[in-house]
Amino acid sequence: MTTEWWNEAWRQAHAKLSRSLERIGAGYPHASVNGKYLLEEPHWWTAGFWPGMLWLLYEASGDEKFRETAEQCEAGLDRVISEYYKLDHDIGFMWTLTSVARYKLLQAEDAKRRALLAANLLAARFNLRGRYIRAWNPWHAGEDNTGYAIIDSLMNLPLLFWASRESGDPRYRHVAEAHLDTALAHFLRSDGSVYHIVRFDPVSGACAEKLGGQGYAPESAWSRGTAWAIYGFALAYHHTGRRDFLDAAERTANFFIAHLPADKIPPWDFRLPEHVARPKDSSAGACAASGMLMLADMTVQSGAERYRAAATEILKSLYERCGTWDDPAEEGLILHGTGNFPEGQNIDVPLIYGDYFFLEGLGRLKQLQPIFWE
Ligand code: GLY
Repeated sequence: MTTEWWNEAWRQAHAKLSRSLERIGAGYPHASVNGKYLLEEPHWWTAGFWPGMLWLLYEASGDEKFRETAEQCEAGLDRVISEYYKLDHDIGFMWTLTSVARYKLLQAEDAKRRALLAANLLAARFNLRGRYIRAWNPWHAGEDNTGYAIIDSLMNLPLLFWASRESGDPRYRHVAEAHLDTALAHFLRSDGSVYHIVRFDPVSGACAEKLGGQGYAPESAWSRGTAWAIYGFALAYHHTGRRDFLDAAERTANFFIAHLPADKIPPWDFRLPEHVARPKDSSAGACAASGMLMLADMTVQSGAERYRAAATEILKSLYERCGTWDDPAEEGLILHGTGNFPEGQNIDVPLIYGDYFFLEGLGRLKQLQPIFWE
């Protein structure tokens, strides 16, 4: 019998998620407040993470209850695929962890159709002059964010790579690669940290300004943004074989590792003035760790063992310091996530994407395949 800690962590996560399934069902949880996950409408960017966890559990256990509920969540997204104003670049997160996941596991034709439709909507957000995928739609009347691109989009690109592979049409991956080129040119700093938002002139395509977004300031280093970059560039290398994307993944990972505190759980931003509060963001740690495990499998340099060791340390620390195993009243798996510090939203709570990447990271340690972004 194996005694690896991640097998015990997986067992505990499986038990807790099985209990939560009875209350949450085919809902769309986001942040856990006072022990219970708050449910969102299906157009919200986090809608894929709960079904994504159910697919990971199904993959590992074959238990049909996870499959049935994940399928109901996927069908629920049909309500929003034609909600033109509500869907933005996070289409990738939403349909990769639902339809692409089911297609990879069960080869379901209707899942393939849904995911291809979603990929078309994502590709259509591409600005040809600026060579970026537009992030958001206006949040309120009169707002103009036509020129906004954000680092988070890198995790939406696997849907485009998947669509090209499945359809045989290279258009989708052309869009993904062009957006990645823009990320290399305008988001990645020489020290391996990244900008959250870059605004382009949507008419000329010229870079107009860099914005702090969910980080503390334009020149700070939002930790979850860094995690999106590590994992996004690692996936870009996986899908294209381009060395400049591998180099970017390694540089962002090196920055992340070098700035971790002793307990290996990142603060919400790595570059904060003394007077600013620094709650943790466990979700940044979980996402970066799963990305670094992927990077370790692909990198040919001596860095591989360093990335694997850092990722394993982060996940172990999340398990031991943030895990809710002794609290059956808490639905979240890991505490101490920070959703959006500048806006005062969801600070020091479990977040569904933190839970997802924590479970996925454990899955990687257990050699679970497939991982849906790949
Ligand atoms: N993609 C939104 C976030 O990371 O909060």
